[in-house]
Amino acid sequence: MKYLNLNFALLFFTIFIQFIQVGLTQHLPEGWFRAGSHPENYMMGPGSSGYVKSIPSVEFPYSYGTLIQSFFPKAYLGKRVRLSGFVKSNNVTGWAGLLMRVDTLSKLYLDTMYRRPITGNNDWTVYEDVLEVPIIATKLTFGISLVGEGEVWLDECKFEIVDPTKVNLTELTAADGGVEASPNALQEPINLSF
Ligand SMILES: *[C@@H]1O[C@H](CO)[C@@H](O)[C@H](O)[C@H]1NC(C)=O
Ligand SMILES: *[C@@H]1O[C@H](CO)[C@@H](O)[C@H](O)[C@H]1NC(C)=O
Repeated sequence: MKYLNLNFALLFFTIFIQFIQVGLTQHLPEGWFRAGSHPENYMMGPGSSGYVKSIPSVEFPYSYGTLIQSFFPKAYLGKRVRLSGFVKSNNVTGWAGLLMRVDTLSKLYLDTMYRRPITGNNDWTVYEDVLEVPIIATKLTFGISLVGEGEVWLDECKFEIVDPTKVNLTELTAADGGVEASPNALQEPINLSF
């Protein structure tokens, strides 16, 4: 099994999403940006859908690339929220997942799908992440991540408020961390299809 352990996965995504962002946003739809531990190891962009493709021989599991968007989740504060999106994969020898992260000032909540990873070759399939968005949330980040080698595509993302008595959380991963709200943040997700 190529699953990362919990602490490692957390450390991984916590640190790098926050601090490493690449400036090459010119060809992405507004709102989206490239990030990851080693974004230089991944080609990311829009085609007919968003994609993340590794260069050959990236180091697993220490290298990942992610195509993400962040916004202030004004409409979702205090709600349980489901992110869904279509993902297709080709020759993923590491793992990939739909990514959703909610920050408050002091904590972050994260679902990377590392416990239900996308591997190998898969045609378009809908995946979901469900997290609580605390009333004090400052930021919601979402997108697609690819750890190790392969190629993934993302399209038709969607956010829905769900009934907590009917829809379970997909992960219960919380960690210390968190960020302040950015005054320039988008107030809602945009360009959910590529
Ligand atoms: C996927 O990997 C297999 C085995 O290495 C290779 O033969 C095939 O060409 C790859 N497919 C694509 C589309 O890269
Ligand atoms: C939610 O989780 C509970 C407890 O694990 C389980 O019994 C229930 O079937 C789950 N509900 C859904 C809709 O998956």
